[in-house]
Amino acid sequence: MDIVTTHRLGKTYGSHCVVDDLELLIPAGCVYGFLGPNGSGKSTTMKMLLSLVQPSSGEVEVLGRPMTRRTRRELLTQIGSLIEAPPGYGHLTGGENMRIVQRSLGLEDGQVQSAVDIVRMGEQMNKRVRDYSLGMKQRLGIAMALAREPRLLILDEPTNGLDPAGIEEIRGLVRTLADRGVTVMVSSHLLGEIDRTADRLGILSAGRMVFQGTRAELFSASTPDVLIRTADQEAALHALSGRVPAHLDDDILRISGMDEDDTADIVRTLVGANCAIYDVRRDEQSLEDVFMDITAGGRL
Ligand SMILES: Nc1ncnc2c1ncn2[C@@H]1O[C@H](COP(=O)(O)OP(=O)(O)OP(=O)(O)O)[C@@H](O)[C@H]1O
Ligand SMILES: [Mg+2]
Repeated sequence: MDIVTTHRLGKTYGSHCVVDDLELLIPAGCVYGFLGPNGSGKSTTMKMLLSLVQPSSGEVEVLGRPMTRRTRRELLTQIGSLIEAPPGYGHLTGGENMRIVQRSLGLEDGQVQSAVDIVRMGEQMNKRVRDYSLGMKQRLGIAMALAREPRLLILDEPTNGLDPAGIEEIRGLVRTLADRGVTVMVSSHLLGEIDRTADRLGILSAGRMVFQGTRAELFSASTPDVLIRTADQEAALHALSGRVPAHLDDDILRISGMDEDDTADIVRTLVGANCAIYDVRRDEQSLEDVFMDITAGGRL
C-alpha cells in the first residue's frame, strides 16, 4: 500500500506557482528522501500533506484515504511531524515538554517512554530545552512527533545546522524508525545527506518533481562524459567539430553528456575519419553531479 499519494497537487501564492502538479508517491515502510534546492517547494508540500497549508489544486491521499475536511482530523492522528524549527518550550525540561504532548494527545506513559528511548534522550529529560544542543533539540522534536506512534513521520530538514556527527545520528535514527515499520519522509537540500538513507528519492526543482525513484534509477538517468584517447588528438577533435561539444582535457578528448547511442556515433565518426582509437571510457557522474544537472545547478 502507498502511505501518501498526491494527484496534481499545486500551490500558488498570488501569481507565483510554488508547487506545480505534483504526483508524489510514498510506498509504505520506506524512507522517502525529498530533495530540492532552497525555495523549491519542499516545506510547502510537506505542509500541504499535514493540512497546515491549503492546496490551491489537486488531491492528497494518506493511508489510502483522501484527505478532506471530514477525514483530516483522523488521518492526522497517524502522522507525526517536525517542520522547520524544533518545537518545545525552552524554559521547560525535556520531560515537561513530553508531558505536555502526552496530555494533549491522551497518550500512555509507555508511549512517551518508548519515544524518548528511541531517540536516546532518556538522560536529558531533566534538563531545560534551552540548554540542549541543536542535535538534542532535534531529537526531542522527533520524540514529540513519535509519541503518538504514527504510521508516517514527516521530517523537514532535520539535519539542518547539525555537525557531521549529529547528521549521522539523525540518519541512524531514521533507519531505526524505518526498520520498526514507520514510513519516513525526510527533506534536505543536500543530496549527500540522505541519498544513502533513503529507499526512494523525490527531487523538486522550482516546484516541479524532476525525478522520483530509487537511487539506482537516478544513477541510470545520468549522462556521463565520454573520454577518448587516439593517436592524433588534434585530428580527432577536428573530426568531431561541429557534431558534438568535444574539448581536450589533459590530452584526453572529453565529450560531455553522452548516452550509449551518442557514444557509438562518436566512435563511428572517428573510425570513418581514420583516427586510430586507443581507448574509449565513460566517466560516470557522481550522484551530486546528476542532482545539480536535473535541478539546473541548484538554481531556481
Ligand atoms: N506564505 C507564503 N507566501 C508567499 N510565498 C511563500 C509562502 N511560503 C512559501 N512561499 C514561497 O514558496 C517558495 C517555496 O518555499 P518553500 O519554503 O516551500 O521551499 P523549500 O524547498 O522548503 O526551501 P528551503 O530549502 O529554503 O527550506 C519560495 O519561493 C517561498 O518564497
Ligand atoms: Mg523548507
